[in-house]
Amino acid sequence: MSLSSRGFLCFTLFLCSISVGLPADPFVFYDWTVDYLTASPLGIKQQVIGIEGQFPGPVLNVTTNWNVVINVKNNLDEPFLLTWNGIQQRKNSWQDGVSGTNCPIPAGWNWTYQFQVKDQIGSFFYFPSLGFQRASGGYGGIVVNNRDVIPVPFATPDGDVNLFIGDWYIKNHKELRNDLESGDSLAAPDGVLINGLGPYQFDRAVVRDGIPYQIINVEPGKTYRLRVHNVGISTSLNFRIQNHDLVLVETEGSYTVQQKYSNMDIHVGQSYSFLVTMDQNATNDYYIVASPRLFDSSNWTKPPGVAILHYSNSQGPASGPLPGLPNEFDTYFSMNQARSIRWNVSAGAARPNPQGSFRYGEITVTDVFVILNRPAELIDGKRRTTLNGISYLAPSTPLTLARQFKVPGVFKLDFPNRFMNRPAKLDASVINGTFKGFVEIIFQNNDTVVQSYHLDGYAFFVVGMDYGVWTENSRSTYNKWDGVARSTTQVFPGAWSAILVFLDNAGMWNLRSQNLDSWYLGQEVYINAVNPENDNTEVELPENTIYCGELSSLQKDQARRVNFSSAPMPLSPIDAMVKVVLVAVMVALRGVFDISGTI
Ligand SMILES: *[C@@H]1O[C@H](CO)[C@@H](O)[C@H](O)[C@H]1NC(C)=O
Ligand SMILES: *[C@@H]1O[C@H](CO)[C@@H](O)[C@H](O)[C@H]1NC(C)=O
Ligand SMILES: *[C@@H]1O[C@H](CO)[C@@H](O)[C@H](O)[C@H]1NC(C)=O
Ligand SMILES: *[C@@H]1O[C@H](CO)[C@@H](O)[C@H](O)[C@H]1NC(C)=O
Ligand SMILES: *[C@@H]1O[C@H](CO)[C@@H](O)[C@H](O)[C@H]1NC(C)=O
Ligand SMILES: *[C@@H]1O[C@H](CO)[C@@H](O)[C@H](O)[C@H]1NC(C)=O
Ligand SMILES: *[C@@H]1O[C@H](CO)[C@@H](O)[C@H](O)[C@H]1NC(C)=O
Repeated sequence: MSLSSRGFLCFTLFLCSISVGLPADPFVFYDWTVDYLTASPLGIKQQVIGIEGQFPGPVLNVTTNWNVVINVKNNLDEPFLLTWNGIQQRKNSWQDGVSGTNCPIPAGWNWTYQFQVKDQIGSFFYFPSLGFQRASGGYGGIVVNNRDVIPVPFATPDGDVNLFIGDWYIKNHKELRNDLESGDSLAAPDGVLINGLGPYQFDRAVVRDGIPYQIINVEPGKTYRLRVHNVGISTSLNFRIQNHDLVLVETEGSYTVQQKYSNMDIHVGQSYSFLVTMDQNATNDYYIVASPRLFDSSNWTKPPGVAILHYSNSQGPASGPLPGLPNEFDTYFSMNQARSIRWNVSAGAARPNPQGSFRYGEITVTDVFVILNRPAELIDGKRRTTLNGISYLAPSTPLTLARQFKVPGVFKLDFPNRFMNRPAKLDASVINGTFKGFVEIIFQNNDTVVQSYHLDGYAFFVVGMDYGVWTENSRSTYNKWDGVARSTTQVFPGAWSAILVFLDNAGMWNLRSQNLDSWYLGQEVYINAVNPENDNTEVELPENTIYCGELSSLQKDQARRVNFSSAPMPLSPIDAMVKVVLVAVMVALRGVFDISGTI
C-alpha cells in the first residue's frame, strides 16, 4: 500500500491503526516465508527453521526512522511469531511479537508486521519467540544505520559482516521442548555454530570430516565492522580472532568508547560491533573462535565454533592450535570486562530522550525492583523457573489484547518489588509500571549459571554488577556517568546486575531471560506502562490484529488455512467496520454479564 493510499484510508475511515511516520520517513516492504529446511551444521542431517530459504535469515538493513512492513508467512506446522530484539517499537507493543503482545500466527497463516525504527541506530537481531523455536534457527540480523546527517563516530568501514554465534543441539526445538516439559534439564549442547555452520576442522581428532564452515573473505589493510550476536540457547561465548584485535564500537544501539579487546564474552541475546583491521601479513588464514565461557569446561566435550578469516593474499590455511580461552579461571575477568564497556557520551546518535539519558545518574529513582532468580524448582509437580518466586504462565489471551478489550482476569498487576518468602507459584503477574517513572531494577542471580535478561521497548543503563547479594550500599559502586544503554545484560552466578530505565514508552513490555530454557520454564514478566491521563499515548490496535484465547470469536477472516499462492483478500473496509462494531458489542456484553469469574 502506498503512503498516500494509507493516508486516504486514515482520513476517510478513522481506521488508521498504524503509526504512519512523517512523509519523509521511507517505507520498506518485505515478504518473508518461514519454512523448515534441512541442514547438517554439525555433520548430521536435521531440521532447521529458515526465513526466505536462508538459515540464518536475511539481514534487515534499515535506517533510523524508516517504516518496516514485513509480511510473515508461516509455513511451519506450528504457531509462530518473530520478535525484534532491541527494536523499541515506540508506543507500539502491538508489533513486539511475543506471547503477551500478539496472538501467534497459526501454521499456514500470514501476518504483516508494521513498525518504525524510531530514534534508534545499531546492531540487533530478530528471532522466533515461541515454543523454543530459536533452538532451530529462524533468526537473522537487524542493522539500523545512522541517518546521513548524523555522523558515525568512526571512519566508514570497508565492509560490514554479521556473525551469529550460538550453542547448538542436534535435537530440534520440539525434542528439546519435550525434554523440558518432561522435567529434564538440557544436556550440554552438541556444538557452537557460526552463521549456521559448524566448526572448521582445526583438528582431525576433534572435528569430523565434511562439515561446512563459514569463511569471511577480506582484503589486506582494510577495516571491517563485525556485528556479533549470541543467538544461542543458554551458553555464554568468548569471541576472538587469532592475531587480530577487536575494537569495540557499538553495542545494542549505543556507540561505546572505542577500546581494544583481544576477545569478548558475549552472553545469550547480546549484540556487539567491532572494528577489525586486517593488519596481519597473510602468511595464512586466521581462526575466528566462539567458545563456551563460564561453562564448567569438564562438562564441555565438543569443539567450539570455528570460522575462517581469509585474506585475499593468504598463503595457506589457518594452522596451529586455536587461540586459547583467556583467563578461564579468573571469575572477575568476565565481570571486569563487562564493567569496562562505556558509553561514548559525546557521540551523536539517534536515541530516545537524549535529554533524559545524558544525565541518568542525576534522575531520582521512582521505583526499585530487586528481581531474584533461582535454579529450576518443582511447582505443582512441574519443573519451572521463577522471578521473585513467580513462574510466568502465558495466558491464552495476549496481555495487550486483554487490556484493550478489558477482558478481566487474564493478568494481575501485582508483580512484587522483591522476593517474598512464600511458596513459588505459576501466574501471569505483571509489573504495574509508573508511566515516565525512572525505575531501578536489580537482577540477583541465585542460580549457578550465568543469566542474561532482556527488556523489550527500551534501552536501559547498565550501572553496576558485582558478586554477592545486592544491598542499598551497593549503589555507591554504580557508574552514574557513562554506563552503556542497551537492552540485554548478563547476571553472573551468585552476583547482581543493576539497570536504570525510564518508562517513557507506553505499552506492555516483555522482560525475560534470554536463556531459552530459563525463559521457557517461566522466567518472564511484563511491564505495563500506561499514561493514566491520556489514552492516546499508544498506537491504536492494528486493523490486521489476530485474535485468540478469550477473544477468538473476533477472528473471522483467517479461520482457514491460507494457501500462500492464493492468499485471501485483506479485510475490506466494510469488514473492518463490522469488526469494530462486533468488538464494541462484545465489550458491552461482557459488562452486562460480568463473566470475569469464568476466565
Ligand atoms: C545497508 O544500507 C546502507 C544504507 O542504506 C547501505 O549503505 C549498505 O550498503 C547496505 N548494506 C547491505 C549489506 O546491503
Ligand atoms: C497476508 O498476505 C497477503 C498477501 O500475500 C496480504 O494481502 C494480507 O494482508 C496478509 N494478511 C495479514 C493479516 O497480514
Ligand atoms: C566518541 O565519539 C566522538 C564523536 O563522534 C569521537 O570523535 C570520539 O573519537 C569517540 N571517543 C572514543 C573514546 O571512542
Ligand atoms: C610475516 O611473515 C613472516 C613469514 O613470511 C613471518 O616470519 C612473520 O612472523 C610475519 N609477521 C607477522 C607480524 O605476522
Ligand atoms: C557440570 O556437571 C556437573 C556434574 O554433572 C554438574 O553438577 C554441574 O552443574 C555442571 N556444570 C555446568 C555449568 O553445567
Ligand atoms: C498501578 O499504579 C498506579 C499508579 O501508578 C495506581 O494508580 C494503580 O492503582 C495501580 N494498579 C494496581 C492494580 O495496583
Ligand atoms: C540467594 O543467595 C544468597 C547468597 O548465596 C543467600 O544469602 C540468599 O539467602 C539467597 N536467597 C534466596 C531467596 O534464595
